Amino acid sequence: MSRTYLITGGTGGIGKATAELLRSRGEKVITADIKGADINCDLTTAEGREELAEKTRELSGGQLNAVIANAGMQAPIAKTVQVNYFGAVATLDGVYDLLAASDNPRAVVTASMASLQPTDVELLNALLDNDEERAVARGTELAEAGPREGYANYSASKQAIARWVRRNAPTQKWAGAGIALNAIAPAVVVSPMTEELRNSKEGLAQLEQVPMPLNGWLEPEQAAAMLAFLTSVENTHLCGQVIFVDGGYDAITRGDSTW
Ligand SMILES: NC(=O)c1ccc[n+]([C@@H]2O[C@H](COP(=O)([O-])OP(=O)(O)OC[C@H]3O[C@@H](n4cnc5c(N)ncnc54)[C@H](O)[C@@H]3O)[C@@H](O)[C@H]2O)c1
Repeated sequence: MSRTYLITGGTGGIGKATAELLRSRGEKVITADIKGADINCDLTTAEGREELAEKTRELSGGQLNAVIANAGMQAPIAKTVQVNYFGAVATLDGVYDLLAASDNPRAVVTASMASLQPTDVELLNALLDNDEERAVARGTELAEAGPREGYANYSASKQAIARWVRRNAPTQKWAGAGIALNAIAPAVVVSPMTEELRNSKEGLAQLEQVPMPLNGWLEPEQAAAMLAFLTSVENTHLCGQVIFVDGGYDAITRGDSTW
């Protein structure tokens, strides 16, 4: 019997590739995105987050075996923390009861190798405290200070969501309900998100700071393959793992400090 999946950011690079892969395997996929998806909603807003949960309930017919909280943006502005962190948490919480009531439930977040980059501690703490108002206020201050400072909206959002996954995955609520909750942390993906960076001299200089000795930049399909595994029935015991799909960036960056 086919499984039912929700994928946010489902019309973008990684989300679309994952939807195509799962559909090619006969699974039912519900996509959500700003536009052009099965559910069109803005995950930076309370209304958009509610709409996502409601429409998923309708379209899934009450059976949701997996959610892939993948929507994200990289702009150096506070909206980035609203979609990457608060939008992802709201996605998972909004469909939690559907997942818990379905067979072999799985949840995955698309974090990023940016979770390992230095970031703004004040913003990070607001995110770890789940305080959206404080996070947006600090994110806006950083954005106003310029793009270099504003980038912390991305790095902090990705560190916070990866840590949220690790904190929550082994709890009674998630692991206790049989829901495998994990994350992927891709390095540079050849998707619309990196198009501008890949096509400018300054952008390429930034991307060169992300060493990926194994096979270089990823195609969205290569991230999709890992998302499909993490949400499959076969994934019975990965819990709270942040899988770096990064050609070696994590091994180089963290070296022997983690194992
Ligand atoms: N591209 C990379 O190099 C890279 C690296 C690491 C992690 N990621 C992460 O992978 C995920 C997917 O990104 P991608 O590379 O496919 O980029 P993408 O820009 O192609 O896809 C992101 C999708 O998220 C959607 N989205 C953005 N804001 C939204 C909102 N407020 N509400 C609903 N949907 C929204 C976009 O419309 C888009 O379709 C993101 O979370 C991103 O941060 C990307």
